[in-house]
Amino acid sequence: MDYAGVDGRRADGTAAGDEVVEPPAAFSDRAVASDPEIYEAFAEEGPEAWRRAADLLDWERPYETVLDDENPPFYQWFPDGRLNAAANCVDRHLDERRNQLAIRWFGKRGERRSYTYLDLHREVNALAAGLRDLGVEEDDVVTLYLPMVPELPIAMLACARIGAPHNVVFAGLSAEALATRIDAADSEYLVTCDGYYRREDAFNQKSKADNARLRAEADLSATVVVDRLGDALDVPLGDDEHEYEAVVAAHDGETVEPVARDATDLLFVMYTSGTTGRPKGVEHATGGYLAHVAWTTRNVLDVRPDDTYWCAADIGWITGHSYGVYGPLSVGTTSVLYEGSPDYPDRDRVWDLIERNAVSVFYTSPTAIRSFMKWGAEYPDAHDLSSIRLLGTVGESITSKAWRWYREHVGGGEAPIVDTWWQTETGAISLATLPGVTPMKPGKVGPPLPGIDARVVDEDGEPVEPGEPGYLTIAAPWPGMLRGLREGDERYRREYWLEGEDGWRYRTGDGATVDGDGYVTILGRVDDVINVRTHRFNTAELESAIVEADGVTEAAVVGDDDGRIVAYVTTRGDVDPDESLREAIGERLAHAVGDVARPDRIVFTPDLPKTRSGKIMRRLLEDIARGDEFGDVSALRNPEVVGEIESAVRKK
Ligand code: PRX
Repeated sequence: MDYAGVDGRRADGTAAGDEVVEPPAAFSDRAVASDPEIYEAFAEEGPEAWRRAADLLDWERPYETVLDDENPPFYQWFPDGRLNAAANCVDRHLDERRNQLAIRWFGKRGERRSYTYLDLHREVNALAAGLRDLGVEEDDVVTLYLPMVPELPIAMLACARIGAPHNVVFAGLSAEALATRIDAADSEYLVTCDGYYRREDAFNQKSKADNARLRAEADLSATVVVDRLGDALDVPLGDDEHEYEAVVAAHDGETVEPVARDATDLLFVMYTSGTTGRPKGVEHATGGYLAHVAWTTRNVLDVRPDDTYWCAADIGWITGHSYGVYGPLSVGTTSVLYEGSPDYPDRDRVWDLIERNAVSVFYTSPTAIRSFMKWGAEYPDAHDLSSIRLLGTVGESITSKAWRWYREHVGGGEAPIVDTWWQTETGAISLATLPGVTPMKPGKVGPPLPGIDARVVDEDGEPVEPGEPGYLTIAAPWPGMLRGLREGDERYRREYWLEGEDGWRYRTGDGATVDGDGYVTILGRVDDVINVRTHRFNTAELESAIVEADGVTEAAVVGDDDGRIVAYVTTRGDVDPDESLREAIGERLAHAVGDVARPDRIVFTPDLPKTRSGKIMRRLLEDIARGDEFGDVSALRNPEVVGEIESAVRKK
């Protein structure tokens, strides 16, 4: 069989035109993963190989069983082990590095705060004690609605310490989105803030939280409010609302025994868009997730305690959970946490931060890299970035051009780049090169990691030929995998799993090709999910909000090459589509989902291209948005509309 299996490094010839970049010797010599045999070792040992990952953690009760696969697709990793995630991220570092920095925070207004592991321990304990005092018990879900402030990782760890799963909601999401997530997660506790700064302006986050409380069906028992703004805004607190500072001060110096959790117990829930308009609550278990995250932080991102590491993703999404909080802290490194935007106060802000912190490993998204390219190489070139030894990218495909730019201008032409593929559901990196071992191919993600049985298959589940498009699936369980969905077992099985003759397959929802060396290229989603600005949206979720605008009849949303949202909208005959309608559509989206969902372009069109059965041809709209060639449109019910849409797109 010729698929990208565990034997991803099979070298049966490189397709013509593929550039192969060998890992630099200077890097390989001291890389965490340096032995090419690791691929074979995992292939031979099966699930047992993942002991390597679990053994990076401290276990309260050691596990004996690695994987219980009796009841697929409900797999259980390290089921008889017990551990605490916060103890693994904080307490166990105290002996060796209590005075080492864990977090260096840079605020939007030039503020700085640093936390050693000892500081982190003290504040996590105080908040854990405070949350308990407010009534939070083991297994109670706590919703966290905070921007990129240190209190967010601290609150996550405080929850983990007392065995209360967290439910982080991205701070840019709307009140409505927050309310939906509070209800769906059955959460009675909320940690939020008074507000935060958007460039120069103070923005009231608390009023969004208040609106969410009004909308939510559940009654919140207690709310903790971080003071981010000082006196910049007057944000009054209600009776059952508590100032974060006061809660922590009241319990300063207390220690809370970390609650030993079963490895299969819930560590957190994270809502993400799926194949329906309603977001899904992806559940991650404590042991398998943390093991996989720690292992990949070391072996893929090559992070060690003496690094200064920066994952630029927002903690409100999975990348920030896994590689902004749990990964770096579990391996005991120093992380940069940055609240601001990359172009404020100037377009060299990122490079300035890398230089002043001597960042050695930098992990960001192709969307960000595209912006950096657009702004110009003079910004990174003006800084000393020689501390960088590894670069990472995640979230969407990176073009070979962007890959080269990133390596040249940020990586000094030398640093290896790991293009990491994974998802909210996979919990941790699943496809990527091992930077000291596996040659890189710019623009291709790379082979599956050792132990990840990813395959590109056709409709029948058969492996596709090299270069042929197919569906990316994973044919065996892996430790970081979701343990289920908040919406129940049936939805989990239906949403992700196919039972075939040779076992259960996890469907990623991505299309992909694989080359003769087992390197995977991601083609994008094959379902109704779009990845824009490194956020994931379901098209129906956005479209249903747009059609709520007065006068709109239909809408179709796609992502373009630059990760922007393009909305095609039809209106009632008596409506003149004008600027005010554009504004109203933007408002609807901001209200229903959040400011992040405002379309970058709205194209008014008399009709949407549809198949004879009435299905909107979103692919075609995507091609038009991207300025790509598109194929035969004669199968459409209304082929004449294509020309009109094209000219409408060109006009704007
Ligand atoms: O389509 C793939 C894309 O992002 C999706 C997962 O989105 P989310 O759950 O929000 O997690 C994003 C960060 C882990 C995938 O189904 N994706 C992720 N990484 C890559 C990618 N597409 C291409 N190349 C990648 N490296």
